[in-house]
Amino acid sequence: MKLLRFSGPFLLLLLLGLSLVKCKSPLDLNLGTVVPTPSDNPQSEAKIELGRKLFFDTRLSIDGTVSCATCHKPGRAFTDNLKVSEGIRGQHTERNSPSILNSAFLKTAMFDAHLETLELQVIVPIQEKTEMGHNMKDLMKVLRADPAYQKAAQEIFHRDFDAWVLTRSISAYERSLLSMNSGFDQYQKGNKHAMNATEKAGWKLFSETLYCTKCHPAPYFTTYVAENNGLYASYEGKSDQGRFRIHHDSLDIGKFKVPSLRNLPLTYPYMHDGSLETIDEVLNHYVKGGNGHPLQNKTIVPFQLTAQERKQLKAFFNALIDTGYLNR
Ligand code: HEC
Ligand code: HEC
Repeated sequence: MKLLRFSGPFLLLLLLGLSLVKCKSPLDLNLGTVVPTPSDNPQSEAKIELGRKLFFDTRLSIDGTVSCATCHKPGRAFTDNLKVSEGIRGQHTERNSPSILNSAFLKTAMFDAHLETLELQVIVPIQEKTEMGHNMKDLMKVLRADPAYQKAAQEIFHRDFDAWVLTRSISAYERSLLSMNSGFDQYQKGNKHAMNATEKAGWKLFSETLYCTKCHPAPYFTTYVAENNGLYASYEGKSDQGRFRIHHDSLDIGKFKVPSLRNLPLTYPYMHDGSLETIDEVLNHYVKGGNGHPLQNKTIVPFQLTAQERKQLKAFFNALIDTGYLNR
């Protein structure tokens, strides 16, 4: 019983100590953000670390030249700033690499908005001919032969290294990649100095004067739904017609998942094919009311934008940058 009789100050110190330990865990560096996690894949520090190693491991590709980080580079907001990416043997992907920051909040993955979990997504690039070109059976042999991976699989999952271990740990790492503490977020939490007057004017334009938040609402700046924003007047003859490829429903032609606009100045070039190089080009697209595809969402109509308003919108996009994840 003696052990249980803590004195007041000792108890206080103990509690303080516990809360300090708690703050050090990467799971608690999320600054109050609750990260949705599937019940069959709870986050743990060891799992995130294993996922991080796998994410940077070029052995995931058939010729050992490409890792997930080849196309999703931490220093570039987990994009690669290329129009389309380069996979094994100099091959090009069909689409522009999206940022995977905040992917914990994805309701659907990919531009076709068709994959429901991160766990399912992991196997796609590994097996895709132009990306990593591997097959899971052979890849498991390679990774299982690595004693460090095998040991981690046993310790964390109590099983041999297999596809379950691979997809669960990479997804756990992805869920740890948060960028939700930008100037905009701090402003929303009550820090009135976190945004300057120009940025605030830009937010007002974006959310009240214009119609942008219909598809790019805060806090994630996407609805995660596939929409046709009139990027092209016609998709005839184009190999990529968007979500149409999934169900061959003609109403899906030209529909792509709405991208988040967080870290926008870092994630150029823009759109599913990287066809617009700058934020100005994107704004020009919306100012003219899109290119008038028959299925273009009716919300998108032409509007006027003065030079000052353009500056304000761009300043607002700067207020959506949070690179704190680089220090974690
Ligand atoms: C060769 C470049 C390349 C490699 C390697 C690559 N990706 Fe991607 N990634 C892309 C492209 C391009 C897309 C968009 C594909 C689409 O929408 O059809 C994408 C999409 C994603 C998405 C969906 C994001 C969203 O907003 O829907 C996730 C998550 C992702 N990749 C994670 C990974 C992981 C994990 C790996 C390693 C196992 C990986 N990627 C390897 C290029 C790459
Ligand atoms: C009807 C839905 C919708 C509305 C309204 C809308 N967007 Fe978009 N936005 C999209 C879709 C869909 C894409 C991606 C299209 C593609 O990849 O081809 C996109 C892409 C973008 C991109 C490029 C992001 C990237 O990473 O590639 C920016 C920037 C953007 N929109 C800004 C705006 C602004 C500013 C407004 C308001 C003037 C606006 N959007 C209104 C649906 C919409």
